[in-house]
Amino acid sequence: MKQVISISLGSSANNYEFQTTFLGQKFTIRRIGTNGDYDKAVDLLVQHDAQTDAFGLGSVKLPAPNKHNMLMNMASNLVDYVRDDSIKIAKLRSRLKAPVTTGDHLMNVAHEWAIRSLQFEHNGYFSNARVLFLSGMTHYRMASVMSEFTSNLTFADPVLDNGISKFLNSFKDLELYGKGAHDILKWVPGKHLLSSSLPLKKWNAHIMRKAMQNAHVIVVPYQNFFDYMGDCTPEELGGKTIITTTAYDDRVEFLKNQGVDVIIDTTPKMLKQVVGVNVLEALVIAALDKKKHRITDEEMLELMSSTKTGIRPRLIYPSGKPKQISRFAFVIHPLSQEQFKLEKSVKPFINIPGAVDAVEKVVAYAPPWIYSKVSGIKSPTGAETEGWLITVGGTPKQMMSHSPEFTYKRLLMAARMAKRLGAQIMGLGAFTKVVGDAGVTVAKKADIPITTGNSYSASGALWAAADAVRRMGLIQIEEGKKIKGKTMVFGATGAIGSVCSRLLAMAFDELYLCGRNIIKLMTLKESILAESPNVKIHCVVNPDKYLGDMDVIVTATSGMGKTILDITKVKPGCVITDVARPLDLSPQDVAKRPDVLVIESGEILLPGDPKMKDIGLPPKVAYACLAETIVLALDRRFEVFTIGRDIEWEKVKTIYKMGLKHGMKLAAISGVNGVFTDEDIAKVRDLALAARAKQSSTIKKESAPE
Ligand SMILES: NC(=O)c1ccc[n+]([C@@H]2O[C@H](COP(=O)([O-])OP(=O)(O)OC[C@H]3O[C@@H](n4cnc5c(N)ncnc54)[C@H](OP(=O)(O)O)[C@@H]3O)[C@@H](O)[C@H]2O)c1
Repeated sequence: MKQVISISLGSSANNYEFQTTFLGQKFTIRRIGTNGDYDKAVDLLVQHDAQTDAFGLGSVKLPAPNKHNMLMNMASNLVDYVRDDSIKIAKLRSRLKAPVTTGDHLMNVAHEWAIRSLQFEHNGYFSNARVLFLSGMTHYRMASVMSEFTSNLTFADPVLDNGISKFLNSFKDLELYGKGAHDILKWVPGKHLLSSSLPLKKWNAHIMRKAMQNAHVIVVPYQNFFDYMGDCTPEELGGKTIITTTAYDDRVEFLKNQGVDVIIDTTPKMLKQVVGVNVLEALVIAALDKKKHRITDEEMLELMSSTKTGIRPRLIYPSGKPKQISRFAFVIHPLSQEQFKLEKSVKPFINIPGAVDAVEKVVAYAPPWIYSKVSGIKSPTGAETEGWLITVGGTPKQMMSHSPEFTYKRLLMAARMAKRLGAQIMGLGAFTKVVGDAGVTVAKKADIPITTGNSYSASGALWAAADAVRRMGLIQIEEGKKIKGKTMVFGATGAIGSVCSRLLAMAFDELYLCGRNIIKLMTLKESILAESPNVKIHCVVNPDKYLGDMDVIVTATSGMGKTILDITKVKPGCVITDVARPLDLSPQDVAKRPDVLVIESGEILLPGDPKMKDIGLPPKVAYACLAETIVLALDRRFEVFTIGRDIEWEKVKTIYKMGLKHGMKLAAISGVNGVFTDEDIAKVRDLALAARAKQSSTIKKESAPE
């Protein structure tokens, strides 16, 4: 039986001894804590050398010649990393028969492996996450790997090691700091100030708490774990992901009590019992009969392929259920001047001629700002997401009065802001994707995946229309058969209008495409007929004379509130879905026809208990384009999804199905006066039937012989 002994400067209260089998060999593994006594550690090494196959050294930092440790040692000139006592142990090491390891090499490989495998297996786990390293120098290799996935890195080394009230904010800064070349080091306070200045200590504690609150992920060194974490409360740690090494039960219990969501223990899980990396590396050295103090990368690879568990990180969910929160951003904008008039600061000036116009113009130039945090969205699959509504200042009128570049510039600023916040995908709301090329340029230039949300807007519009038609009960719908009715799409050549047209062509046997450019309409007609040959399609530029025959109308123009369709000419009982924002039909227009059901496209009821500021919709309800961004975030599909005006039909189907999987529901259908109850709809139907009866009796009278 081989012997592995771990001599740790940590507490003797955690001592253990057990037997195990590793790589087909039997081992006795023993830990002896010296409670910080270096001399005792030296004595133990000498005393057990003859009968030990490999030693592990716990809570000791030894000087080592590789690049990473050189950096650490350089930093140690400043931060007293490697103690003189440790150098004594390092010298003794060369005189011992048994190899001695601190587990650093295995730890570095395990760190890199853990980060890369989680990033890959959980599709963008760390993408854009705000990661706080309490000691960047201890986790140098992990930080280097992490910097490939997020630029939101914060290192607390200056604060915690040197008492400097400043953080390092990039991996490059950490490198400079490690070499002792970072400007921040000029701030080192004198020993006197550092040890005795209470205000400075308090301030540093304050900025540390803030940094923890701001982070999504906190990386905690395993040595002196409780010195780093002991004072933390749920305010700092609630909902966080903690990365550490060797998460003993007491550490897990502590983190659980502070409301931590996920603990990632990068220590390879090679044994049933949780042991330090120094023990594991010593075990590997002994199993492979190495006489050296560390194993090579090749040996590590050999180990990874020969052990069943490999060196997988251990994921612990203190709540007992897997938890993972993705993050999104969504860009909104004021829909019209009316919104400014509601602002407290603008109200006193609304009667001054030109004042609101001036506010509208000025705000259009403002940089984006956060309007609301969105939280509490939870899919039935267990996936959760949170996000930010970022507003750009331009109303549709302002956006249209500038070149598209004006809006692109602000959207790219919003994308940078979203990335800094930690968002993994950004959606473009309402008019921000109408200007220019519908998101193509922004998606090309932004550092974060973009979606316009138009696939779900189109599917939501028709989802709502289908629901309204069913509830009105004026059209006969037979399962598996085309609807014998007529339908018309305004803005048919647009991004949303064209998808609505394709969908309606599959459901109805007669479709009217309405637009301003007959050639665009004819091209669209051809492409729809190629997919759905069994539909009669008409292209119309002057729709008025056909309006009286339509059972269903969808209007999706970017006419910015101009009169698009004459509602007085519409057939009684027609269902009109107004997708446009601003709406194509004003409340005054709608009031002219109580016998027509005008609904405001298809809004989506979000799953869970969503919380966000008012966006002009009932609680928990979102615009379909916002819902698309949320669905993609829940499904961890951090990719450019819908952009440009040619929406892919496959994507419309995909997002609809994905939405159902994540618990999205069609919100109660509403109109200009709010949600339609069954009684409201019955009233519209009765009025429609009465109007139709009146129309047919008038026709009969007119056609009756004199
Ligand atoms: N409810 C929601 O969740 C939601 C989501 C996204 C977008 N929207 C809104 O939906 C509307 C359409 O968006 P989109 O992305 O499809 O825009 P788009 O691709 O730019 O298409 C706009 C369409 O409107 C037509 N149009 C523009 N001005 C018109 C006018 N004065 N009279 C008649 N037709 C006119 C255009 O026709 P031409 O080809 O002749 O120019 C084009 O077919 C916008 O109002 C947008 O704000 C709503």
